[in-house]
Amino acid sequence: MNTNSINWRWPRKAKLLVTSALLLLQNFLVISEIYAEETSSVYIVYTGDKIYQNPETAKKYHLKMLSSLLGSKEAAKNSILYSYKHGFSGFAARLTKSQAEEIEKFPEVVSVIRNRIHKLHTTRSWDFIGIHHSSSKTSYTENNLGEGTIIGVIDTGIWPESRSFNDEAMGQIPSRWKGVCEVGEQFNTTNCNKKIIGARWFMKGITDHNKNLIHGNGTKEFLSARDAIGHGTHTASTAAGYYVENANYRGLAYGLARGGAPLAHLAIYKACWDNSVGGCADADILKAFDKAIHDGVDVLTVSLGVNIPLFSYVDQRDTIAIGSFHATAKGITVVCSAGNSGPISQTIANTAPWIVTVAATTIDRAFQAAITLGNNNTVWGQSIDTGKHNLGFVGLTYSERIALDPANDLAKDCQYGSLNATMAAGKIVLCFSVSDQQDIISASRTVMEAGGVGLIYAQFHEDGLYHCGVFPCIKVDYEVGTQILSYIRRTRFPTASLSLPKTVIGKLTSPQVSSFSSRGPSSMSPTVLKPDIAAPGVDILAAFPPQGTTQDSGFALLSGTSMSCPHVAGIAALIKSKHPTWSPAAIRSALVTTASQTGTDGSVISEEGSTYKAADPFDIGGGHVNPNKAMDPGLIYNITTDDYIHFLCSIGYGSASISKMTKTNTKCKKEKHQGLNLNLPSISIPYLKKGAKVMRTVTNVGNITSVYKAQVKAPDGIKVRVEPQILSFNSSSTVLSFNVSFLSTLKLHGGYRFGSLTWTNGKHFVRVPIAHLIRLVEGAPVEIVNGTNLGKPKVVGGDDSMSFQSEDGDWWLDGVSGRGEESFSVDEGEDVARSQAPLNFAQS
Ligand SMILES: *[C@@H]1O[C@H](CO)[C@@H](O)[C@H](O)[C@H]1NC(C)=O
Ligand SMILES: *[C@@H]1O[C@H](CO)[C@@H](O)[C@H](O)[C@H]1NC(C)=O
Ligand SMILES: *[C@@H]1O[C@H](CO)[C@@H](O)[C@H](O)[C@H]1NC(C)=O
Ligand SMILES: *[C@@H]1O[C@H](CO)[C@@H](O)[C@H](O)[C@H]1NC(C)=O
Ligand SMILES: *[C@@H]1O[C@H](CO)[C@@H](O)[C@H](O)[C@H]1NC(C)=O
Ligand SMILES: *[C@@H]1O[C@H](CO)[C@@H](O)[C@H](O)[C@H]1NC(C)=O
Ligand SMILES: *[C@@H]1O[C@H](CO)[C@@H](O)[C@H](O)[C@H]1NC(C)=O
Ligand SMILES: *[C@@H]1O[C@H](CO)[C@@H](O)[C@H](O)[C@H]1NC(C)=O
Ligand SMILES: *[C@@H]1O[C@H](CO)[C@@H](O)[C@H](O)[C@H]1NC(C)=O
Repeated sequence: MNTNSINWRWPRKAKLLVTSALLLLQNFLVISEIYAEETSSVYIVYTGDKIYQNPETAKKYHLKMLSSLLGSKEAAKNSILYSYKHGFSGFAARLTKSQAEEIEKFPEVVSVIRNRIHKLHTTRSWDFIGIHHSSSKTSYTENNLGEGTIIGVIDTGIWPESRSFNDEAMGQIPSRWKGVCEVGEQFNTTNCNKKIIGARWFMKGITDHNKNLIHGNGTKEFLSARDAIGHGTHTASTAAGYYVENANYRGLAYGLARGGAPLAHLAIYKACWDNSVGGCADADILKAFDKAIHDGVDVLTVSLGVNIPLFSYVDQRDTIAIGSFHATAKGITVVCSAGNSGPISQTIANTAPWIVTVAATTIDRAFQAAITLGNNNTVWGQSIDTGKHNLGFVGLTYSERIALDPANDLAKDCQYGSLNATMAAGKIVLCFSVSDQQDIISASRTVMEAGGVGLIYAQFHEDGLYHCGVFPCIKVDYEVGTQILSYIRRTRFPTASLSLPKTVIGKLTSPQVSSFSSRGPSSMSPTVLKPDIAAPGVDILAAFPPQGTTQDSGFALLSGTSMSCPHVAGIAALIKSKHPTWSPAAIRSALVTTASQTGTDGSVISEEGSTYKAADPFDIGGGHVNPNKAMDPGLIYNITTDDYIHFLCSIGYGSASISKMTKTNTKCKKEKHQGLNLNLPSISIPYLKKGAKVMRTVTNVGNITSVYKAQVKAPDGIKVRVEPQILSFNSSSTVLSFNVSFLSTLKLHGGYRFGSLTWTNGKHFVRVPIAHLIRLVEGAPVEIVNGTNLGKPKVVGGDDSMSFQSEDGDWWLDGVSGRGEESFSVDEGEDVARSQAPLNFAQS
């Protein structure tokens, strides 16, 4: 199931098994696919290599193909929804199942996939969301504000009147811009300006079944690029909002708001629709990419994604991987959110090697609220509930003490209806979150129903704050919660007074990796280290549509990897503005190799939570984004489109499926060991047996004459050798290669170990993270039961050395080791391959 959904967070719900995480971790958004009841539905038909340069000719070609299927030009015109002409060739059309089967047989057609609409249900409205303040303390060294660049935003649209989109200081619209400002409901061409230079909306994919789903019956959607939800306004202003003085949320986080690239232009592609009815449909996302490629954006920020299990990189159903491949090939840097399924390992999404995948961290700001107990002791929590809650001292009680039914555990975390109203009335109630089943907002509703007047909620995860709205709600950690409970237990008439939160800046250890941020390694291809980088994503203040309340300031505090993604997109625009010729891989390399390893207090970046484990590359990739250093990285790890194609070949995808994705005629050569050699600014070897060697190439983008020396921090138990140790650049040698050899000295089958390789000339420190999993395969025999999509596999050997071949001989594998029926991985020597298609197998 593809689950494209925007990656912002609602308070955490259940996180039990990976499968339930799919439904519940997505933050109340229960995702289901709707298929039309009618006989016809929307299919996306991919046609072969782009034959026609002229888009109009391409469209005619698509119509002609459709006419020959449907029997008339008229029928074809009625059926076609979109013609994809820019990044890739194909179209979306309404077809019956048998027509879809028929057109798949056309020689020009490479594949036909059914459009899926991901319906997002939410049990709560969006109104509890607070406000933001980004880590905008940086002053970019060279006054680079992203001038002249264009950031495309594929999201829920935009609220153009927001102060963040004021264009007074904006430069002229670049002449290469080919986009448009589409008119629609409450959106006309005057809503575009020199800041918002383009606005398009795509809804044919989502409304095919029922227009009323989007418009009418209580939804507040606009049939235009206008943002009814707020997510797109927030992400766009985070990436490129202009300075707004006195921005705040209910008086909190007060200050100057700005986006990463305040002088970058914005191009809005609305492909996601009101969550209670919509979501983002594949056909619309793909069209948004197609148009953005055509229009001439420099950077795309995409804060949405699929959940695990992931599709393969060449699977047509992963529209973000496909769209971003074509965008990257055209020189557009695509930045995506990592997902909000952490802290469980292997939950990361958007892991294609051409995407910049962003994790989320906290910033150095807290909203501290004092709790004064009746004994005059003060303890601290956090809150964003402001207003006239001046309770003074009132009774305080622990939820378990006022349980309706002491026989069950429901009251402990204030589950709905679990409290005795007689006993709760007029009191502040302390509850403990004992599972991820409950959250502070649900708890506040329970306490309010029971007549309580305030809530103290003890919770482990520090995942951002939520506005309860009803009365003061303060979040505390378990230690403070336990202190309060001890006070309640030894006091005859416990009381407490809750004060309003204050914004505190600079006093917190930060950044920390937020616990919701999805973690690597990539479940699709662990050789591609993901995430790439981390950026602020907790309690971020940015522009938001007006909510019509008196406290409305046009800003909101939101949390999620959706919020960290546009931070990096804004910084990518700054790099692009300074270095217009750099490839997306060069920009990514600059971001990753210069990222910080330490926080504001000089100690290593840690993970959120009471144990404060040091963050590793599967939490933060190269580290925490450092915009100043990223402008001048010294060396870069560059990658061409062909390199990506070689990589796809080497990890075992067949020529045919790669051709389908790239829309080029790819013939994979049988290259061995290439999977590790994609020139990424990271090295990840998921199956290190004895030894491995990887090759990398760096391009000097600093002073022409520079000498760099290798510095290695070897993972425990692994010997690392770099050859050569010194790289001397001059005017004739600007691109140099080196090999890194790894030798395991451990005879233990263990977890991942981490290290780094840094090239330095004394001024630049070009660091790449290293991750290794030592695997001494014991050779559990694996029986191949079914390999339908690969042709019948021939089992050649057994145990560890077993290999099999598909019928067309396209790829071969050694030493199968599997983890499930959807996907499996095998290592071939030191290399790793992965099936392109589901393969059922059993382990005996
Ligand atoms: C566009 O909208 C603005 C404000 O909503 C309005 O003042 C203006 O007259 C409209 N222009 C056109 C051409 O409809
Ligand atoms: C609203 O929903 C009702 C029932 O759910 C349906 O009968 C009606 O046609 C809908 N109206 C609109 C405008 O969508
Ligand atoms: C708490 O402090 C107030 C004012 O300082 C004082 O009147 C009161 O007696 C103190 N209560 C306790 C229990 O110490
Ligand atoms: C609630 O508590 C009061 C006081 O202890 C008790 O009299 C009452 O029966 C309880 N209500 C319910 C519904 O259990
Ligand atoms: C990286 O590779 C691309 C594509 O081959 C090339 O255009 C670019 O100049 C190279 N170097 C940098 C710094 O981007
Ligand atoms: C280049 O080298 C000169 C002289 O060594 C130095 O002053 C300058 O800062 C260097 N520039 C860069 C971009 O490294
Ligand atoms: C550049 O360096 C290479 C080897 O590193 C050397 O062969 C070449 O002569 C140098 N060229 C110049 C112009 O210094
Ligand atoms: C890296 O290793 C490859 C293959 O073993 C070899 O051909 C190449 O020359 C080596 N490159 C360097 C820079 O040592
Ligand atoms: C193999 O897969 C095909 C198609 O998915 C299915 O029809 C068949 O039953 C499978 N065979 C076994 C042994 O699982």
